[in-house]
Amino acid sequence: MRKGIWQEFDGYKEIADEIELSFEAGKERSFDRQLADQYLGRLHPKELKLRVVDVIEETPSTKTLRLAPVDALLPPFLAGQYIPLFAEIDGIRTSRPYSISSQPKQTGFYDITVRRVPDGLVSNFLMDQVKVGDLLDSAGPQGNFNFNPLYHDRHMVCFAGGSGITPFMSMIREIVECGLDREVTLIYGNRHLDDVIFHPELESIAQRFDNITFIPVIEKPAKTYSGACGFINAALIQEVLGDMQDKTFFLCGPQGMYDFCLPELESLGVAKRKIRKEMYGPPVDICDYPGWPSGINPDKNFQVTILDGKTIPVNAGTPLLVSLEKEGIVPPSICRSGECSMCRVKVLSGKVFQPAGTPVRKSDTRFGYVHSCVSYPLEDLEIML
Ligand SMILES: Cc1cc2nc3c(=O)[nH]c(=O)nc-3n(C[C@H](O)[C@H](O)[C@H](O)COP(=O)(O)OP(=O)(O)OC[C@H]3O[C@@H](n4cnc5c(N)ncnc54)[C@H](O)[C@@H]3O)c2cc1C
Ligand code: FES
Repeated sequence: MRKGIWQEFDGYKEIADEIELSFEAGKERSFDRQLADQYLGRLHPKELKLRVVDVIEETPSTKTLRLAPVDALLPPFLAGQYIPLFAEIDGIRTSRPYSISSQPKQTGFYDITVRRVPDGLVSNFLMDQVKVGDLLDSAGPQGNFNFNPLYHDRHMVCFAGGSGITPFMSMIREIVECGLDREVTLIYGNRHLDDVIFHPELESIAQRFDNITFIPVIEKPAKTYSGACGFINAALIQEVLGDMQDKTFFLCGPQGMYDFCLPELESLGVAKRKIRKEMYGPPVDICDYPGWPSGINPDKNFQVTILDGKTIPVNAGTPLLVSLEKEGIVPPSICRSGECSMCRVKVLSGKVFQPAGTPVRKSDTRFGYVHSCVSYPLEDLEIML
């Protein structure tokens, strides 16, 4: 057989030998790789069936669902992480993330604590229709809103709003139940006193443990209420903390809370790198978001054509992912707040609005990919899934 011309080149033999050796080494390791895949699958399962074993009423608008594994061990998690729940409701296949409120050393179940969102699809389903014994579809815990001793100060200052208390509850339960050497100041805002989730437990923990301080802040208190009132502002933060040194700040709650608290923290000289925040879904009203084009009404209708697929109606004020799901097109989604990039689609023509700061990779931006969970159509679009 005639030799290939490359076989005449200097060094050909050495390279060919090296390639053969790599193949051999690769083969020898293939057993380990399977083992590694097995472990990875257990730690980060793409599918996880969970059974509702208890439903605990926390406040008039909030319930905790206790979820136990059905056919596997529960994957471990870090306090602050969430699980996605997948469901089909009124013919719409969708998902929502919920932070785990139980603590990680509790390995028999995950608690998720759900607050009803008026007209919300999934929260109302979980509150009204799910009962003990039901099965829910989920996946392994996700997210990076957790304490990291390498980067974060021992003293955590946690700002929670409404259901944003859940990741902090997991962290606080872990600290007190495992005796961790950490200090927490929790400043927790709610509209009314009876909206405060885990109120008796938080008060009891703060009384028993010197390293946990709990300050509920009530926006619309009764006249007789003597605690902190209004919003979590710079004056209150200064009064509670004294100085801002050697502290890491964690924020979790509705968009409005970030919009209000971040400038207050900045005015106290807190550096941005000292602030960690968890986005609790897309902005509630995108038209109020900085940068939203003033001429576009959120009800304005457009069309989206999917490459090699159908054309669907959408409107400007609804995230593209939600419009796709309503039409039975279900891109994968996990965080639904722009962070994980699972829901990305390529925009072939037309423009969308994505809130500033959405962590889209530079290469994705260059090639036209957007995160559909936080992308809002501003014109007719053609997209590729
Ligand atoms: C990482 C992460 C963790 C989360 N953990 C929790 C948790 O522990 N407990 C919990 O109750 N929720 C949590 N959420 C919010 C949750 O995923 C859903 O967004 C929420 O339950 C509303 O879903 P829905 O289907 O009922 O409302 P949708 O049908 O999605 O929304 C209906 C309308 O309500 C607005 N809306 C959506 N979410 C909120 C909100 N939180 N407050 C006010 N208005 C809203 C929407 O913009 C929309 O206009 C978390 C979100 C994220 C991203
Ligand atoms: S679902 Fe995570 S970025 Fe959209």
